[in-house]
Amino acid sequence: MSPPADPRTPRHVAIVMDGNGRWARRRGQPRSFGHRAGQKAVREAVEFCLRRKIESLTLFAFSSENWKRPDEEVGALMELFLRALDKEVEELHSNEVRVHFVGGLSVFNEALRTRMHAAMEKTGGNRALDLNVCVNYGGRWDIAQAARKVAQAVQRGELPAESIDETSLAPFLCLAEQPAVDLLIRTGGEHRISNFLLWQIAYAELYFTDVLWPDVDQDELARALDNFAQRERRFGNAGAQIARAS
Ligand code: FPP
Repeated sequence: MSPPADPRTPRHVAIVMDGNGRWARRRGQPRSFGHRAGQKAVREAVEFCLRRKIESLTLFAFSSENWKRPDEEVGALMELFLRALDKEVEELHSNEVRVHFVGGLSVFNEALRTRMHAAMEKTGGNRALDLNVCVNYGGRWDIAQAARKVAQAVQRGELPAESIDETSLAPFLCLAEQPAVDLLIRTGGEHRISNFLLWQIAYAELYFTDVLWPDVDQDELARALDNFAQRERRFGNAGAQIARAS
């Protein structure tokens, strides 16, 4: 993979795809209609990232809290994921996209789990774009599962407890092998993180748009990247230090 030469282009973009329900309601349709329309916007986002040579795209498709939604909506979403896996994986593979499903996968039914693992295996050698689809995911869950793994390493005698720090915990978090998130986009007008990637967005630039996810197209994503290009990223340094280094 050849990374973007321009440091003003994010290497890793993460998206909270919000607004499917409202998009459907405005059309007098059930929420599942909005989720289906959202799938088209997912395709747009993947194409956009491939064109812009972004290395990683991480999508919040189903949070650990989304199980609280009505059974009918959860069922429709599961059906959509199943059909999307059958329909989209070939195309993603032909575009050299490596697909990862990130989250507690064991809770999904066997048909879904089988397809998720098959998609990850099939596309595992691809290098054009890492597409991370977060399902049954929560940022706190992620930190807790990393803490559990590091505790197990301590129990096995591989690591003294006193040496646990950010560097020793980091490899156990989801997406550890990918660049840190540079840009987090949330559509649909809300200004919150909703337990998405907590650790991984420590220094991400945040971009909020009122556009509802099914209406997001390449122009809207280009606006987010243009906005990102104008940000001064300081990573804790003073502005003057950044100016001297550039
Ligand atoms: C949030 O909108 C959206 C979701 C919980 C589901 C996201 C799923 C998709 C975009 C479907 C396609 C995804 C893949 C990976 C195939 P909301 O329902 O909370 O909308 P609202 O805030 O308007 O109610």
